[in-house]
Amino acid sequence: MSDHSEGPGPTHQRAIYIDGVSGVRPAAPVRAAELERLAERAMTPRAWAYVAGGAGMESTLRANRDAFDKWKIVPRMLRDTTRRDLSVELFGQTFSSPLMLAPIGALGVVCRDADLLVARAAAAEGVPMIFSNQAGVPMEQCAAAMGSTPRWFQLYWNTSNDVVASFVRRAEQCGCSAIVLTLDTTRLGWRARDLDFAHLPFQRGEGIAQYTSDPVFRSTLKDVRADAAQKPKTSLASLGALISIVTRGRRAGLSAGESVAAVRQFIATASRPSLTWADLPFLRSITKLPIVLKGIQHPDDARRAADEGINGIVVSNHGGRQVDGAIGSLDALPEIVRAVGDRMPVLFDSGIRSGADAFKALALGARAVFLGRPFAFGLAVAGERGVREVIRHVLAELDVTLGLAGQVKVRDLSQDALFHAASAGERLDT
Ligand code: FNR
Repeated sequence: MSDHSEGPGPTHQRAIYIDGVSGVRPAAPVRAAELERLAERAMTPRAWAYVAGGAGMESTLRANRDAFDKWKIVPRMLRDTTRRDLSVELFGQTFSSPLMLAPIGALGVVCRDADLLVARAAAAEGVPMIFSNQAGVPMEQCAAAMGSTPRWFQLYWNTSNDVVASFVRRAEQCGCSAIVLTLDTTRLGWRARDLDFAHLPFQRGEGIAQYTSDPVFRSTLKDVRADAAQKPKTSLASLGALISIVTRGRRAGLSAGESVAAVRQFIATASRPSLTWADLPFLRSITKLPIVLKGIQHPDDARRAADEGINGIVVSNHGGRQVDGAIGSLDALPEIVRAVGDRMPVLFDSGIRSGADAFKALALGARAVFLGRPFAFGLAVAGERGVREVIRHVLAELDVTLGLAGQVKVRDLSQDALFHAASAGERLDT
């Protein structure tokens, strides 16, 4: 990490300007829109569709951003903000900042060894990473690249509880300090861009490394039978997909036949739409790690999570990738914080593009926030360095915004620091 004696904001800001004197500019643009533009240029059209796209007409994607625009920061003056404190406490661990990297699966569509590059970047910047259940590199390899930097594991509930238990056991063994169970993807959302490309990374063997490296999952492969409906017609394209599957399978030590079977088995077992609250005690029975439910958008679900003894929740709509026409995630946050904020930490994602966005979510009661697509864009633009820069930009802007808003501690932020433009308008009308 860089020297943060005067805080990550001024330190990073100064470093950029000093580099500028030598003609060096940030590899990953600071402006979110410019970062996106360069990322799109750096990716294949279908990789871009997968990473940037949302469900249906993408109105939830827009709602996530609109929700941020409704809240305005109200800066306070004449308060000493020389020293600021970004640290937060979560499940007994102190984190140096409230920023974490969201679990993002199938990142191999962006570049090879993507998860490993992200793990290195997260460790170099001291920001926790959440390993995706659908990663392209096994969690053990990413953990080994992270030293003592905190990491969590994100779980999708497989149709086999034995596979679930095996994943959780491995997560514990590689030092993950929480299990994030994602609830909003018990089936794939209706992703119009991917459907128009007829492209799903997993069908090409991308994003299934946690499975192909898992002893329990692997032990099921010998029984996999091809169902005629799953067989693509033979063509040049299907040959390309087969090569992709076999190449990725080889990296996991699988034969060509096993690699194809692994994809079929993954597609058949990876999600369990029948999941209910009654299943959660099983997860509780197999791990002592804190369990965090990701995908909560309704205060009643948050209350139920607290009643069931769950340790934390993430207010998230999966970045608008699951339900089109859904509530903006930040719009859902305040009521959920009111419902359970005194009983469990409430985390937040979906729509954060900058440090000022992070400030708003934290002021609305989020204990920590997940950065999602922007780090994938940084990866596309400049690999590991791009991820590091994106993390720095966001943290630096959060720090600068904190000081300029007259606030000194992330932990002390409250809604008093904000003004809700829409509701003020409503008040004026009455
Ligand atoms: C995701 N997300 C996700 N979530 C999860 O729990 N497991 C996963 O494997 C994935 N995979 C994934 C892939 C891609 C390409 C994206 C963009 C997102 C959702 C992710 O964790 C987070 O909720 C969103 O990215 C937040 O939205 P923004 O801020 O990125 O728009």
